[in-house]
Amino acid sequence: MKTSMKARQDIAALIARHRDGFALERDFYLSDEVFAEDKERVFYREWQLAGHVSEIPETGDYMLFEMMDESIIISRAADGQVHALANVCRHRGSRVCVAPRGNTKRFTCPYHAWAYNLDGSLFSARLLDVEHDKSKLGLKPVAVEVFHGLIFISLADNPASFAALRAQLDPILKPFGLARTKIAHRAAYPVKANWKLLVENYNECYHCAAAHPEFSRSHATHMTAERVAPLNDAMISRSAVCGVPTDYVDKLAEKRPANSPDYSYNRYALYEAFKTGSEDGQPLAPLLGDIKDYDSGASDLYVGILNPMLIYCDHAVIYRFIPVDRETSIQEIIWLVHEDAEEGRDYDLERLTWLWDVTTLADKDIIEKNQQGVNSRYYEPGPFVDMEIYARQFVESYLATLGAGGSDASG
Ligand code: FES
Ligand SMILES: [Fe+2]
Repeated sequence: MKTSMKARQDIAALIARHRDGFALERDFYLSDEVFAEDKERVFYREWQLAGHVSEIPETGDYMLFEMMDESIIISRAADGQVHALANVCRHRGSRVCVAPRGNTKRFTCPYHAWAYNLDGSLFSARLLDVEHDKSKLGLKPVAVEVFHGLIFISLADNPASFAALRAQLDPILKPFGLARTKIAHRAAYPVKANWKLLVENYNECYHCAAAHPEFSRSHATHMTAERVAPLNDAMISRSAVCGVPTDYVDKLAEKRPANSPDYSYNRYALYEAFKTGSEDGQPLAPLLGDIKDYDSGASDLYVGILNPMLIYCDHAVIYRFIPVDRETSIQEIIWLVHEDAEEGRDYDLERLTWLWDVTTLADKDIIEKNQQGVNSRYYEPGPFVDMEIYARQFVESYLATLGAGGSDASG
């Protein structure tokens, strides 16, 4: 959908009014025109996590990735490849696949029964005139990247390239063996707020000391850099022994190629009594990948802006920011554990999910109150503090995305 000239002018004026170092004006959160642009420029363009390879291990396994108006089939074809296909029939446009996941030989449209192979190619179309070239009537392919077992998709015609992030992050992530994990649990938390308030909140820990007493007992991210430096120094020597990478890949890196998604990696220390993100500091599950022991650290990983991830020694936690409409979002959390770990024997689901469940519920609460305040006529954007540097950075890169020329989702 193209944005009208008037709407573009309004948005340009809104961007021009933005004060550097301040929060966004309320129309960025409340205007339908801005949300329409958010869809086109962010959600239909960015790389997004659609799932994990362990969800579709066998030929014929599939699952749907659904977001606002779009539905994408993620399938495993006979050649072992993961495909992403627009779930829109090439006959008259019906949704082809309706079940959210399953195993099938072919996808058969419920309307007039055109059938598609697992790679999207058209298998059969009853009574279709021979003059039509069947090879041109396959389900439209959607860009897909499998990165350490994580399946990312992008709806852009020319999506940003994974080349730079693969080159830099592949060696760092290898010891965690993320491709050899499985989903232990996923939970969706509806949040009555615009998606940007969720992303801003995730990107700063200024609120952590007040809002997250559970998290702040084990994670020192609410402290100043000077105060955490000795903790991190002590961790780095432990990490080396445990085989955990502590390379630092800057989130604000300017040397990244222009056609790359944002990405970053940072390992930081937990308080020493905590081996992992558990309530009592004790392990939660078998060690991931090739990690030899607990270094009492956690890694912040970003691939794109919409799927931050935390990697502990024995599990990983992935965030998905899912927009529903202008003022409603879903915060989904996915917990990954070693593929051989068995619930009940190797991990207890309640212990595993405790920290990020309690933390996300607290975030939901503060984000919804944030939205309520932003809705008020008295709201006026206030200044960011230093500790909110990444939230500020998100706001700046968002404004650049929103203000860039053209509104096609073609990257
Ligand atoms: S719309 Fe799918 S077969 Fe007609
Ligand atoms: Fe939070």
